[in-house]
Amino acid sequence: MTKNLTPEQLEIVAGLMQTPATVSPKYFYDAKGSALFEDITLLPEYYPTRTEQAIMAAHAPAIAQAIGNQCTVIELGAGNCQKARSLCELIQPLAYLAVDISEAFLQQAVASMREAFPSLAIHVLAFDLTADIALPTTLPAQRRLVFYPGSSIGNFDPPHALALLSRMRGLMNEDGALLIGVDLVKDTAVLNAAYDDAAGTTAAFNLNLLDHLNRLIGSDFDVTQWQHLAFFNAEQSRIEMHLEARVDLVVRWPGAARSFSRGERIHTESSYKYRVDDFVDLLRCAGLPHAQVWTDEKGWFAVVLARP
Ligand code: AVI
Repeated sequence: MTKNLTPEQLEIVAGLMQTPATVSPKYFYDAKGSALFEDITLLPEYYPTRTEQAIMAAHAPAIAQAIGNQCTVIELGAGNCQKARSLCELIQPLAYLAVDISEAFLQQAVASMREAFPSLAIHVLAFDLTADIALPTTLPAQRRLVFYPGSSIGNFDPPHALALLSRMRGLMNEDGALLIGVDLVKDTAVLNAAYDDAAGTTAAFNLNLLDHLNRLIGSDFDVTQWQHLAFFNAEQSRIEMHLEARVDLVVRWPGAARSFSRGERIHTESSYKYRVDDFVDLLRCAGLPHAQVWTDEKGWFAVVLARP
């Protein structure tokens, strides 16, 4: 069967056949998953989004001054472009490039950006961030600000995070910069609650992955046979999300099958939590040695402006 699989299907099947099984968190984001993620960002337990917004608002003049105006903003993982709106109001860039995995979703999101910022040159690029990014040749070369908010860098393990930060460095000249949000290590109970909320929204987000896989590879996952599991792994400094089999079961897809024993897991996401110094070190290794850091009062989240 494998010879007829797309690269995406091959990746999924290879992950499912591993022990323990893994699936890339990028497969969370079908239409339902994207909507559930937006719900997550509004949950009382999920502090990252509102804490990052509060830091940006509290330090807006200092951040704007440090960035300067007349730059080109390249936002990676732009999503609904909500964060870019606030940034563009703040620094009034010349051009804005939204990069995200789904072209349809992006076109919809930038339509409202075009209305809000009629004189801003807006470009769109549908791209998977795990590959090399080829920028449109029409994009101004000078003073590029790479914008990567939301602590999405935490969803890459350290070697891949370093590789991605290095690729971001490669998108800018010596006068460019990276503005990035990063979630910090904190009390374990706060972290666990943020990824296992009382309303069950994160559980629904995690379980929805199985429905998405059923469509992508033709598998027969029965969502009711699985449960959401999320916990902070202090040794690895990461939240781990898993789907755990409630019963002994078999999952089938065209040409293959895999059995799972009760309690066996599929690792669906890691969300690394950094100490500020460790993250600044990582930036230095990626060729971005000059960092300015803003945090909230509790020290839960950091917004970092890093330069070559
Ligand atoms: C997108 N990313 C930064 C989120 C996070 O916090 O790691 C994804 C998420 N997973 C569960 N809740 C939110």
